[in-house]
Amino acid sequence: MNDLNTQKAELLGAIAAADADALEAIRVSALGKSGTITALLKTLGGMSPDERQEKAPAIQGLRSAVADAIAERKAALEAAALDVKLASETLDMTLPVGTSLQGSIHPVSQVMDELAEIFADLGFAVATGPEIEDDWHNFTALNIPETHPARAMHDTFYFPDQMARDGKKMLLRTHTSPVQIRTMTSQEPPIRIIAPGRVYRSDSDATHTPMFHQIEGLVIDRGIHLGHLRWTLETFLKAFFERDDIVLRLRPSYFPFTEPSVEVDVGYSIEKGRRVIGGSDGWMEVLGSGMVHPKVIAACGLDPEVWQGFAFGTGVDRLAMLKYGMDDLRAFFDGDLRWLRHYGFRALDVPTLSGGVGA
Ligand code: DAH
Repeated sequence: MNDLNTQKAELLGAIAAADADALEAIRVSALGKSGTITALLKTLGGMSPDERQEKAPAIQGLRSAVADAIAERKAALEAAALDVKLASETLDMTLPVGTSLQGSIHPVSQVMDELAEIFADLGFAVATGPEIEDDWHNFTALNIPETHPARAMHDTFYFPDQMARDGKKMLLRTHTSPVQIRTMTSQEPPIRIIAPGRVYRSDSDATHTPMFHQIEGLVIDRGIHLGHLRWTLETFLKAFFERDDIVLRLRPSYFPFTEPSVEVDVGYSIEKGRRVIGGSDGWMEVLGSGMVHPKVIAACGLDPEVWQGFAFGTGVDRLAMLKYGMDDLRAFFDGDLRWLRHYGFRALDVPTLSGGVGA
């Protein structure tokens, strides 16, 4: 018995002082296949039941005390190693931006900043929501019930069954429209928000990537009508494209969450063989929008007899392509330095209305 106690004291002392290599050596020599404690455990098999009953608790106690001490020491050593690593990897954020640093602002970030600037001037706040969404916010509350064909059209990425909520699989949001729901259920109207962010669909070619960016707009107030929607979109597109000759065409369309729904085209003209926004030689679709469906307003606990509103949604990447002239969406996410140098913006080119949003 005393033997065991001495052995334990010696082992615990050695463990407390061990570095990572020594600790592993102690583990092997005590608990490994031919380790000392393993050998002691093996002697239990050859003992009489009485003897085993007497000796087993001490031997097993020794084994677990040593195993626990090793695990504890290992965790402490790892934590200390991480601290050293973190301390040696700090980045001095106060260093001046020298010419050797090559970072640039990605056009998607730049366009999102431009949009925030334009809409802030119109009294819109920026709202956000999670990229991992539940079925209710992404579909049901937006008047897209289970059997609705729009669900199939969205090419949704679903999470495995284990992550289900309310019996429904969680998903990567397929659009920014769930932020409408999150805003209406958490804020009192009147509401004026834009919600830029990442969205996901299982789709990939020159004009589609599995992750892309959208921006949503939502206004909820009393007495809101299509005229407000049209004025807002026209004001926004004129500021964004920095041209006064922007012509809009509203076409009747269908979205489950708006009634009536309109698709918005913007006129373009041909200058030196290139399409330029402005004029009306041809039309390009830029936005989906409409009056928020009374069912959506009701799903958020608001009375549609009192509150009305309009909403719109569009692709940020697409807006960037139209404004800055890129033609392959995939290049946005390749991380090719040559592309970033060509299309990126300088960090100090913060978009402002007075400076022209494009800076
Ligand atoms: N959520 C739609 C989509 O991803 C875009 C959209 C259309 C948003 C109409 C809206 C809207 O807010 O009113 O295709």
